[in-house]
Amino acid sequence: MRMHPTNVRMILLRRRPWRNHQLSSEIYRPSGSVRMPPAQDLLPLGAFPRTRMRRNRQFDWSRRLVAETTLSVNDLIWPLFIVPGEGQRLPVASMPGVERLSIDLAVDTAVIAAEAGIPALALFPVTPDDLRTPDARAAADPDNLICRALRAIKRAVPTIGLIGDVALDPYTTHGHDGLLRESDGVILNDETIAVITEQARVMAEAGCDVVAPSEMMDGRIGAIRDGLDRAGLQHTLICSYAAKYASAFYGPFRDAVKSGGYLKGDKRTYQMDPANTDEAVREVALDLSEGADMVMVKPGLPYLDIIRRVKDAFGVPTFAYHVSGEYAMLSAAAAHGWIDYDRTLLETLTSLKRAGADAILTYAAPEAVRLLRRG
Ligand code: PBG
Repeated sequence: MRMHPTNVRMILLRRRPWRNHQLSSEIYRPSGSVRMPPAQDLLPLGAFPRTRMRRNRQFDWSRRLVAETTLSVNDLIWPLFIVPGEGQRLPVASMPGVERLSIDLAVDTAVIAAEAGIPALALFPVTPDDLRTPDARAAADPDNLICRALRAIKRAVPTIGLIGDVALDPYTTHGHDGLLRESDGVILNDETIAVITEQARVMAEAGCDVVAPSEMMDGRIGAIRDGLDRAGLQHTLICSYAAKYASAFYGPFRDAVKSGGYLKGDKRTYQMDPANTDEAVREVALDLSEGADMVMVKPGLPYLDIIRRVKDAFGVPTFAYHVSGEYAMLSAAAAHGWIDYDRTLLETLTSLKRAGADAILTYAAPEAVRLLRRG
């Protein structure tokens, strides 16, 4: 049957049940994310027995056609831990399969990551004990471990994106992300910002494409942006850990970088309360107004609602951090044979994307690449 133009219009009308429901400006947000109409308005689409939801799910080909979310290698950021020395490959007990690498081996890994199509690496230094001080002075040393790693990887693999964590916890004797006033235990906001502004600048000068402040001080994004701009680094990106929660899921990370043993108290005076969501939106708004190019929600899976809210509210590049404790849970349960690692991993990463994440930091990036290749 030749389709009459009116029929075509009818069909289009029918396929967009929300068309007459609300003004289009309420449905289409600047972000491009579509807000669905209330569920009752979908009911006229059909009812059983004429409508059978299982029809679309019958075949692999139809399931693939109707899939709303796709995960690809382009969504992955691979965090790497860097240790001093050469030829070092040190396992992390609480993160099976994750190895801390000396710079030479990190360069080899970056080559493999680039060949696999992973867009970016996130680097974290494991600082030797004798370089930790109360004032974290090693943080702004242009020849510290992280800057040497950035330079070496950038030289060998110029096409891979390099993300560097901006925070003082690798360099302080007390394991906090900011400077600590010994007399009363307060983490000093503005004093910390002065140090991390320098830290971000030396990292950017060493080849860091994206500086990623993770210490949750107030006003850091604006200060870091101004510091970078003053140094002629207008093109360095800032990915703000905007909604970073005071989470128990960071435990294995602190084992890996050996900051856990140092940590006095907890980080609840600067990282967010897991009970809060409006506050996350406000944090993101502030960081964007100060010049953040990308924002992050962290941890990932326990905070899917936050990812969705941030994505809907701002429509800016939003990353999720599938953190160390989340990785450890998957590995541990799989090691017991209680869950299927490959399938739970892909399901987890797909869930993060479905919630609205544009990219995901995950220690399982190489395994995800392997699974995505297999299809
Ligand atoms: C430190 C930092 C942490 C993580 C990333 N950057 C730990 C913390 O805040 O204590 C955690 C990452 C993970 O658990 O995988 N600034």
